[in-house]
Amino acid sequence: MTSTPSDTTEPGSTAYRTTETAAAEKSFILAHCSDPHFASVDHIKKRDFFNKRLFGYLRWKLKRRAEHSDELLTILNKDLQRTKPDHIAITGDLTQLSLPVEFKMAHDWLRTLGTGDRVTIVPGNHDTYVKTDWHHTFTHWLDYMRGDLQEKRAPLVICLDDLFPTLRIRNRIAIIGVNTAYPSGPHLATGKIGSNQLVKLEAILKHLSGKRFFRIILIHHPPLPGIVSWRKSLTDAASLQLLLKRHRAELILSGHTHKAIHGELNSPSGLIPAIGAPSVSSISHKGERRSRYYLYKITSTAGGWHVHLNERVFSLEQHRFVDGPQQDFTFPFVAN
Ligand SMILES: [Fe+2]
Repeated sequence: MTSTPSDTTEPGSTAYRTTETAAAEKSFILAHCSDPHFASVDHIKKRDFFNKRLFGYLRWKLKRRAEHSDELLTILNKDLQRTKPDHIAITGDLTQLSLPVEFKMAHDWLRTLGTGDRVTIVPGNHDTYVKTDWHHTFTHWLDYMRGDLQEKRAPLVICLDDLFPTLRIRNRIAIIGVNTAYPSGPHLATGKIGSNQLVKLEAILKHLSGKRFFRIILIHHPPLPGIVSWRKSLTDAASLQLLLKRHRAELILSGHTHKAIHGELNSPSGLIPAIGAPSVSSISHKGERRSRYYLYKITSTAGGWHVHLNERVFSLEQHRFVDGPQQDFTFPFVAN
């Protein structure tokens, strides 16, 4: 993989349209955002405080409530109607305390983004804040989580372990969902893939190997070392890193940190960009923490793939998303 930053170009400009027209037939546009954190903590029942939710409630009241705005999610929808991605990926933490009402709020929002075949989500640690009843929570999101081949046996799915990893193929784009969310102890926000999921993930990557798909891994916790403290880390990140050295992917997209992250993982066939999104509902004054989403224009070329990344950053002054950093990547076809 090689990458080059480029000048900013507004989606409506002539330069953008020219590039778009030339590549239109072979291009696929993926939008990525993360961590909307739908919250309904004011309606929480007393019985729900007798667990980890008490800490989450206090954290929301003292800090997070001031940092997030649901209005941004409406503005995001309008911007997505303008930028028109072919597919939308959301990497977890759609809820704050994994309350059933928050799952419904998130589902209502998902439906405004598109149907399950156009929107793919993976859970985050806030979506498994405590152990919940599947039928009051994740069942609402099933159409947005399940893989292409899981359509028929969906009624048999009653937990995240039954579902993940998932595989969705759109054109030549392979979207691989990995779950790292599980109920962890108080004050912990760790993630874990687990040995069963790693075995299934290796089988998926083997299946895709050498077939010239553009392979994107969606994962809530970033698998890069040194990004977050142990308390928030992906505890088996090293296992995923080893797996990706044996079976390559082209791109890793994550959330969780609530700030923009540009990293990469080493593999024998080149670097794998690992890009983390901040919370899409954040109105933080710190640029790296404020709402943004990412548009990846993925184009197949004679020798591999070209990707143009356009970061749509929320402007506090203009109260809308505007073009931010731009970057270009090239990925030659590899044997694995
Ligand atoms: Fe989050």
